[in-house]
Amino acid sequence: MPVTSQTIFNDAPWMAPGLTTDARAALLDAALTEDERYSLLHSQWAIGFLPDAPLPDGAIPAAGYVPPIPRLGIPGLYETDASLGVTNPRNARPGDTATALPSGLAMASTWDPGLAHDAGAMIGDEAAKKGFNVLLGGGMNLVRDPRCGRNFEYLGEDPLLAGVLSGEAIRGTQSQGIIATAKHFVLNDQETGRHVVNAVIDEAALRESDLLAFQIAIERGAPGAIMSAYNKINGHYACENDALLNGVLKGDWAFPGFVMADWGATTSVRAAANGLDQQSGEQLDFRVWFDEPLRGSVAAGETQPHRISDMSRRILRSMFAAGLFDRPLPEGQPIDYAAHGRIAHRAAAEGIVLLKNDAGLLPLSGEAKRIAVIGGHADVGVLCGGGSSQVTTGKGHAAFIHAGGEGAMMAMASEAYHPSPPLAAIKRAAVGARVSFANGRYPSEAATIAAGSDIAVVFANQWTTEGADVPDLTLPSGQDALIEAVAAANPNTIVVLQTGGPILMPWLERVAGVLQAWYPGSQGGEAIADVLFGAACPSGRLPVTFPQSTAQLPRPELPGLGKRWAAPFGPRIDLSRAPGFDVAHPEGSDVGYRWFARMGRPTLFPFGYGLSYTAFSYANLAVTGGDTLTITFDVTNTGPCEGIDTPQVYLSSRRGAPIRRLLGWSRLRLKPGERAAATVTADPRLLADFDTDRRAWHVPEGRYEIALAHSAEDFALHSGASIAEKWIMP
Ligand code: BGC
Repeated sequence: MPVTSQTIFNDAPWMAPGLTTDARAALLDAALTEDERYSLLHSQWAIGFLPDAPLPDGAIPAAGYVPPIPRLGIPGLYETDASLGVTNPRNARPGDTATALPSGLAMASTWDPGLAHDAGAMIGDEAAKKGFNVLLGGGMNLVRDPRCGRNFEYLGEDPLLAGVLSGEAIRGTQSQGIIATAKHFVLNDQETGRHVVNAVIDEAALRESDLLAFQIAIERGAPGAIMSAYNKINGHYACENDALLNGVLKGDWAFPGFVMADWGATTSVRAAANGLDQQSGEQLDFRVWFDEPLRGSVAAGETQPHRISDMSRRILRSMFAAGLFDRPLPEGQPIDYAAHGRIAHRAAAEGIVLLKNDAGLLPLSGEAKRIAVIGGHADVGVLCGGGSSQVTTGKGHAAFIHAGGEGAMMAMASEAYHPSPPLAAIKRAAVGARVSFANGRYPSEAATIAAGSDIAVVFANQWTTEGADVPDLTLPSGQDALIEAVAAANPNTIVVLQTGGPILMPWLERVAGVLQAWYPGSQGGEAIADVLFGAACPSGRLPVTFPQSTAQLPRPELPGLGKRWAAPFGPRIDLSRAPGFDVAHPEGSDVGYRWFARMGRPTLFPFGYGLSYTAFSYANLAVTGGDTLTITFDVTNTGPCEGIDTPQVYLSSRRGAPIRRLLGWSRLRLKPGERAAATVTADPRLLADFDTDRRAWHVPEGRYEIALAHSAEDFALHSGASIAEKWIMP
C-alpha cells in the first residue's frame, strides 16, 4: 500500500507563523503552476477494479484520489467513505477492516450530540491511521420519504436534529486532523432515478428544512468540504446549481471550503462557474470536465480565470484548516479497535428504540427458561445497509447474500451481515435458559418452536441500499406471515426489527413487544441482547415518523418507481441528455411529523417516540420570551431503574396558528427518584419563516406556544411567551 506521508515544508512562506488560513491558502495557490492548479480540481476514482478505471499510481484503493504536488509539499487527497465507518469497497485493500457504527438512524435515535462527536472522531482516527485525509461523511439528507434506500445513512427527518448531530460528527472527524464532508447537498431524497430526478420545491420551504439542516451542520462542524448531490433542484443539477452553490452556500453562508461533486455527478464544464470546485471520480463522468474542457472554457471567456484559482484556493484552504500541512498523517499507527468497538456498542444500545412492551414483558428475567429465537439470520450476524457506506468489520462479514436486480449498482450490491450474531449474545445473556433457533423459512416450524417456549424473539429484516428505494413499507420475504404465525403460537412474542427505516406492522396488536434495532453495527448482536435482558435500559427516540400507510405520505406513489433511469456506473453517460422527471414537494418544509401534524393524520409511531424500562415526569415548565424562547423545566425519574430521558420542546402555535417544529431537547441520565433541571434555548430560525424577498429570516412579533413533550404527539406540559419582531441574516 502506498504511503501518503509527505514532507512538511516548514520554511515555506505559507507556513510563516501568524498567518490566517486564508492567507496561507492564497500564498500557496499563487505558487502553483497552471497544470498543478488544474490537477487539484478533479479526483480520480480510486477503487481500481474496473478495466477502464485501473488504480491510479500512488492511490490507496478507496473512493477518490488527487495526486500530491511534492514540489510544494502539497499532500495528495486520499478520500474514503464514509459516515458509518471507513469502508473497503469490494475488499480493494485486501483484509482491511474497520469499526462499523450502527446506521445513521440509530445514531439519530440517541439524540446525543456528544456520542455523534465521539463516533465521528472514532472514524476520523481510523481513516487517518489508514492513510486517508478526506472522509466523505457525514451524510445528512433529511428523510422525506421512508422508502428511500439511503435513509439508513442519514440522521432523520428534522433539520435541527440532523444538523446538530451531523455537525458534531463532522467536528469529531476533523478533530483527528482530516477533512470531513457534509453530503449530499441537497434534496437527494430518493434513490429512484437519482441521476435525473428534478426535486421541485419552494425556495422558502427549502431554506426552512434541508438547507437549514446543512446550515446548522456547517456552523457547528465547519466541514472542509460539501458534496453536491446527483439530482436536480428546481431544474438545475445540484453540482451546477448557481443559486444554491454560489447564492446560498458561498454567498449567504460565506462557506469558505470547497464543493466536491458526488461520484459521476458532474455533467458540464458550466459547473465550475456555478460553484463546483472539484469534479470527483472523473472516470465515472462523461468527460474529465475540470481539465481540458475547463481550460477551453476559460480561453473562450466563459469561465472567469479568477474562478480557477478560487477553486484551488478553497481546496488548499480546507487542507490548511484541517492541519494537513502541519503534520503527516498518523498512517500505520495502531488502531484501538477495542475502544472503538465500545463506541459502536454504546451507539447501538442507546439507538435501539423500544416501540412496544406489553405488561412489562421486557426486560427478560431469569424466569424465561425456554427462549425461541427465530429468523433474520440471527445465528449469523446483524444486517447492514448496502452501497458506498457499507463497512467491512473487524472479523470480516459473516455472510453476503447477493441482492440481484437490474443495473450495475445492484450487480455490485450484497446483503451483508456483521459477525455479531444476536443468537450467541442471547445465549450468553440467558443464563440457565434453553435457547432454540429456527431460521424462519417455514412459519409452521417457527410456530411449533415458539409454542414450546416461554418467549419467542422474532428477528425481522428489511435490507436497503444506496441506488434503490424500497417499493413499499412491508417487510419483505413473507416475514409478516412469519410474525403472525409465531404470535398466534405464543402471546409472549417480541419482534426485533433490523430495517433501513420505518416499516408497517400489520401484526402489531398481536405481539407483546417490538424493538427497533435499525442496522446496529459491528457490536449489534450484543447491543440487542443488552436491551432484551436489561443490561441497557432502552433510551432511543424515533428520529423519523412511522406512518400507518404510504397513502398518508406527501407522495403516496414513489415517483419514477419501476422505470429504468440513467445510472452512471458502467458506460459513461451524458446525463445532460438523459430523460428525467419532476418530483413535487407539497410538504415543503413540513417534513415528517410536521406533515402529519399539518394534515391531522394519525401515525403508527410518532417522531420522538420511545419507551423505557423506567418512567419520567416533567414539572415546573417556564418560558421566557424577548429575543428568542428560553424554556426551563425539571425532569424526574419516577420508575424503578436508571435510565436516559429525552424531553423534547415543540413549537405548537405561533400567533394563534397551529404549527409543529422541534425547538430543542435535553438528554438526561437519571437514577430512580433523581430530579434534574434542564434548559432549552430555541434557535430563532426555528421560530421564523424565510422571507425570499428580503433574503432573511423573519420572526413575527406575537405569542408563541410551546409544549414539553415525550414525542411529537405526546405533549406533557404547555406554556408560552411573547417575542418581539426580528429579522435574522440568512
Ligand atoms: C455516493 C457518495 C459516495 C461516493 C463515493 C456515491 O455513489 O453517493 O455518498 O461518497 O459514491 O464512494
